[in-house]
Amino acid sequence: MNIREITKDVYYVGVNDRTLDRFEGLWPLPYGVSYNSYIVKGSNKTALIDTVEIGSIRDLFHSIMSQIGGDKIDYLVINHMEPDHSGGINAVLAAYPDAKLIGNKQTIAMVKGYYHISDDRFLEITDGDTIDLGGKTLRFVLTPMVHWPETMMTYIEEDGIIFSGDAFGTFGALNGGIVDDEMDTGWYKDEMYRYYSNIVGKYGRFVQKALAKTSNLDIKYICSTHGPVWHSKIGEVVEIYDKLSKYESEPGVTIIYGSMYGNTAEVAEEIARQLAARGVRNIKIHNAAKSNLSYMISDAFRYEGLIVGSPTYSMHIFPPVEQFMIAMETREFKNKVLATFGSFSWASAAHKQLKDYALKSKIDVVASLEMKHSAGSDTFTQVAHLADKVVEALKLK
Ligand SMILES: Cc1cc2nc3c(=O)[nH]c(=O)nc-3n(C[C@H](O)[C@H](O)[C@H](O)COP(=O)(O)O)c2cc1C
Ligand SMILES: [Fe+2]
Ligand SMILES: [Fe+2]
Repeated sequence: MNIREITKDVYYVGVNDRTLDRFEGLWPLPYGVSYNSYIVKGSNKTALIDTVEIGSIRDLFHSIMSQIGGDKIDYLVINHMEPDHSGGINAVLAAYPDAKLIGNKQTIAMVKGYYHISDDRFLEITDGDTIDLGGKTLRFVLTPMVHWPETMMTYIEEDGIIFSGDAFGTFGALNGGIVDDEMDTGWYKDEMYRYYSNIVGKYGRFVQKALAKTSNLDIKYICSTHGPVWHSKIGEVVEIYDKLSKYESEPGVTIIYGSMYGNTAEVAEEIARQLAARGVRNIKIHNAAKSNLSYMISDAFRYEGLIVGSPTYSMHIFPPVEQFMIAMETREFKNKVLATFGSFSWASAAHKQLKDYALKSKIDVVASLEMKHSAGSDTFTQVAHLADKVVEALKLK
């Protein structure tokens, strides 16, 4: 039994990274991440699908050697040029001097720009082209902006395997098992929400296009670039990606607030109490100066309600709250029950600026409140009103 064989002559040769602190220099990786590569062996030719991050190149070669020994690689398929997958291009082309690099027009321009490879190493393909490796026909499906302009997927017609690039990927390294049948996948769900919302979140409409384009393929395995190979759980992961890319969310409310001296925090806590008293069961509260942006974005994508509060800070939104609003605006957030609250002492600014983000994103603010100095009985009345409005709007969803 070859423990890395997915279907006959298709092998997992990816690597785990449990060292990197932050993906893209930004997003925490408490459970690591995997960079997935695959070998497809036809009767005539062998292809490697994607490489790994440069720091993991030694592990990639060990993995390849364990599967094909001294046999050569004829094609290196580049589905995605982000360096977490393209970092090994130079090393692979150097190790296999006859290998051709397969990519589309955009891929090739990027490979030249980043890796300075000569023209004679490329084999340019266009959408729908096929290459026969001998009993393994690779078909290329261009899926731009999932998650860069050059991204594409590669499908093996005989096996019903799709190498999907970042689509259907998740944070979290592989803990022994490779195909989902071999593991308890429950814990990946949170990491998949975080991966999607942090990395792919801006490109929902392109994910929708890619889903439509691949919907007529008979898919038995999804081999993404991060996390498990999906087989028995295909339905579940496609549903998560479909839902998130349509900005659909789950019952619950995320409260994001900033506070220097506790006054705005007190309002945030009271809003949460009032929501709980009205039956909202999933409430996530983040102090924006303490919680990591990655988790705030993930919860904001996940739950239907979003309530954001900030004190006025030198005529601006409190910086970590503003950073969150920028992240949401960048991800073109929509389809939320949004409420805002603000505080100030002598010249109010933050609350209006919060509402301006909603305006720019064309999202209605269902309720808002502003407090001068500290919470009094009128504040608690306003909080009750805000909670009523939020719960009412959530019921309509
Ligand atoms: C560094 C700093 C800058 C502030 N800038 C403003 C301001 O520009 N306008 C204003 O009305 N209040 C300003 N305030 C006052 C706070 O907005 C106000 O005290 C608010 O109640 C603080 O809420 P908190 O207790 O949640 O931090 C500032 C306070 C601090 C500490
Ligand atoms: Fe990517
Ligand atoms: Fe990636």
